Amino acid sequence: MTEKKEGLMEKIVSLCKRRGFVFPSSEIYGGFAAVYDFGPYGVELARNIREAWWNAMVRDHENIVGLDSAIFMHPKVWEASGHVGGFADPLAECRECHFRARVDHLLEEVGVFADEKMTEEEINQLMKENKDRIKCPKCGKRDFSEAKKFNLLVQSNLGNFTGDWGKEPTYLRGETCQGIYVNFKNVLDSTRVKVPFGIAQIGKAFRNEITARQFIFRKREFEQMEMQYFVHPESASAAYDEWREKRWQYYLDLGIKKENLKWHEHENLVFYAKAAWDIEYNFPFGFKELEGIHNRSDYDLTQHSKFSGADLSYRDPKTNEKYVPWIVETSVGLDRTFLAVMTEAYTEEEVADGDIRTVLKFPKKLAPIKAAVFPLLKNKPELVDKAKAIYDELKSSFMCEFDDNGNVGKRYRRQDEIGTPYCITVDFETLSDGAVTVRDRDTMLQERIKIEELKKYLEDNLGK
Ligand code: GAP
Repeated sequence: MTEKKEGLMEKIVSLCKRRGFVFPSSEIYGGFAAVYDFGPYGVELARNIREAWWNAMVRDHENIVGLDSAIFMHPKVWEASGHVGGFADPLAECRECHFRARVDHLLEEVGVFADEKMTEEEINQLMKENKDRIKCPKCGKRDFSEAKKFNLLVQSNLGNFTGDWGKEPTYLRGETCQGIYVNFKNVLDSTRVKVPFGIAQIGKAFRNEITARQFIFRKREFEQMEMQYFVHPESASAAYDEWREKRWQYYLDLGIKKENLKWHEHENLVFYAKAAWDIEYNFPFGFKELEGIHNRSDYDLTQHSKFSGADLSYRDPKTNEKYVPWIVETSVGLDRTFLAVMTEAYTEEEVADGDIRTVLKFPKKLAPIKAAVFPLLKNKPELVDKAKAIYDELKSSFMCEFDDNGNVGKRYRRQDEIGTPYCITVDFETLSDGAVTVRDRDTMLQERIKIEELKKYLEDNLGK
């Protein structure tokens, strides 16, 4: 693994740019820190990741329903949630080069872990105690300013036409789950769900992250895939254990190797949590949080009841018991999953001629392009027409690509680099035997398949 990891991040970033997976935002203007765009292949991979998550959470559970709430919400939501008051990172500035860094990250580098609930004074005390060890990551000096806490919520001027409505700022949502809590009653009243049940949502979230680091791992505009499971308070602990197990298995099913996953228990809990465990992934820069699984108690529904005046309790139709449900949350970033899947898939292999082939060994269900169709030669209309006809036939069922550029060997390499599981070549024999050569991405083995059996072959081999 260490061998594979050397320079891995740079290689992934470069491949993502070169092959149209991820572009830096507004690049022609010099980029825009911690914001990225998905390119043509990235958008397909992201769609497949969303679909895998949606299938695992919504389709596979008859008591989980979906939601798509708006990014803008009433400003009171963020007061009730605790974000206006408590959603802040401590920041300090290097007095030498003026580099600004998250103090919890600086402390972490020297093995000291700051509690999220610490005041500025307490954090500054920690900084003081470790001042001789804390080094600026940019210039190496050991001279930082006092730490100051910065709120992560991103403000907007939505609806602020006259200037007199600016007293209560509107925010771009800092997490998607708040849209779920404020719709708890709507979902309950409009569907047949009964506690225990879950509401799942995929959508954008925004945070004024102080440090722009590690590619798409920490973005300022990112996408979350969150599920909030509403349970009886006495069942919360069992539901929590159950979801921890299910979410672990989900990553194995997504093709992530067990040795690249590990659990991390939070000792210093965020303001709302009763229990919090992260699933960490072995990113190129080491094990870091991929997903958080939280027991949020009745904090969220109670807070929103208090601030809105709405009754967000639940009456059990069988026992008539009335209570505020507890919430078990599973929360993962689409972008972090994308980077984990990329890291897991990235492979360099020495091939027979001594060359290195770069291949993204995505699980087939996640591959952006499922099959590429080639005519052996681009100047033979009979081959091109046949290949086009096959491509036209397959493209309504699978994401396909037609390629007649360069020789077949080069086309294989191009498809390997974007992780296409199958390459289909139409050659002269095809015209007489009605079969094509299908080449497997991972084994590089080739077999002849009848054209009329191609669709079934792909269905059988690409999996669910
Ligand atoms: N609703 C709970 C919540 O938002 P979180 O730990 O702040 O909890 C959950 O975020 C997940 O969202 C993280 O595990 C990570 O996958 C993703 N995430 C958080 N901040 C992110 C960022 N700045 N860029 C990319 N993904 C992020």
